[in-house]
Amino acid sequence: MYGLSDEQQLFRETVRRLAQERVLPRAADIDRTGEFPWDIAELFSEYGLIGVGMPEDLGGGGADLLTFCLAVEEVARVCATSSLIIAAQHLGAMPILVAGSPEQKQRFIPDIASGKKLSAFALTEPEAGSDAGGTKTRAIKDGSKYRISGTKVFITNGGLAKSVVVFASTDPSQGVRGISAFVVDGESSGLSVGRIEEKMGIRGSQTAQLNFDDVVVPQENLLGGEGEGFKIAMRTLDRTRPGIAAQALGIAQGALDVTIEHLKQRRQFGRPLIEQEAIQFMLADMETQIEASRHLLYKAATVVETAGFEAVSSPEVTRYSAMAKLMCSDTAMRVTTDAVQLFGGYGYVRDYPVERMMRDAKITQIYEGTNQIQRLVIFRNLLQKENI
Ligand code: CAA
Repeated sequence: MYGLSDEQQLFRETVRRLAQERVLPRAADIDRTGEFPWDIAELFSEYGLIGVGMPEDLGGGGADLLTFCLAVEEVARVCATSSLIIAAQHLGAMPILVAGSPEQKQRFIPDIASGKKLSAFALTEPEAGSDAGGTKTRAIKDGSKYRISGTKVFITNGGLAKSVVVFASTDPSQGVRGISAFVVDGESSGLSVGRIEEKMGIRGSQTAQLNFDDVVVPQENLLGGEGEGFKIAMRTLDRTRPGIAAQALGIAQGALDVTIEHLKQRRQFGRPLIEQEAIQFMLADMETQIEASRHLLYKAATVVETAGFEAVSSPEVTRYSAMAKLMCSDTAMRVTTDAVQLFGGYGYVRDYPVERMMRDAKITQIYEGTNQIQRLVIFRNLLQKENI
């Protein structure tokens, strides 16, 4: 059981049942309409899943990172969009958890942990995607306030979030060392929602452009000190990439589950397809990739958890987090592509879930850092590894 405690196994069973009974029946419709599933967000709030990985004394579930990943994985097994509700909420809270003062945590986290407010992480810009340090959004100090202007793109929950962590440069002459992080009220004057993306997958999740036009933020909302924003963003991603890995793993597992069921039923050449050796070999590869990915992810979750929210930087944490995201998302893409193949013509039509799973899998190789960036991060941190 992957070294899971009794409590973690029970939790996994509970989430699996909830996902099967309440999320699965909505999955195809969420994908078809492309509308944010408020009913699922409310369900997760009711069951304490939306803030499951946030500290208990701040209103969260107090789950360790591995338990958080189990929740994301089990939901993603039936609906990737729904699992992103949990992962994105965690992402929007994480900069506050890694760098917020005790007062800021008390002020911001309980509403995020309870699901009263959706949260967002606004880092990416039109000219600063993989090169997150190229942030152009400006924050100019004005007495006891900052005035933020600029454009953020591809922001999950962008137009829905009431708590938005924004990365903006307080000193462009300092490059990445001049970036600062702010918690911005999603209803601030001057903050508007631009383009809402029409996406290939995770279609019920909203991905929006956010325009900041002289948005006033009190200095009490600055996380850490001026110039600490880039490191806060990196430390955040170290702690959230395992969640994306868990989403990818869940998508892959879900695709394998439905494929096996289909192959047992579908007959060709006078017998069920699952009796064909060529097909059995493909299933064996899918299972092997999923199991290897799961072991790496659970190990990564434990390594990151051991470091805690506030660890300043650790090559081991960064490397494991990136390796888990890289491997699980590549597995998700391969497994879902094979699942579509094994369904044949039925895999290519909307009546069956595997084409949705394949579309959903693709984003896991892109967001929270493309897999090319994960490789770069893994290599940079590999040289600091002590015992091989
Ligand atoms: N923890 C702590 N500090 C870190 C760190 C980490 N993991 N990684 C880097 N740093 C520090 C470095 O030590 C360095 O510090 P000093 O200034 O003191 O020397 C500083 O940050 C700058 O680091 P680098 O020189 O390594 O920076 P870089 O410009 O070469 O690039 C990068 C780093 C890894 C490429 C980074 O830009 C990156 O991760 N890019 C990808 C961004 C990303 O993941 N975006 C996803 C957006 S979120 C999203 O998709 C969300 C969504 O809505 C779902």
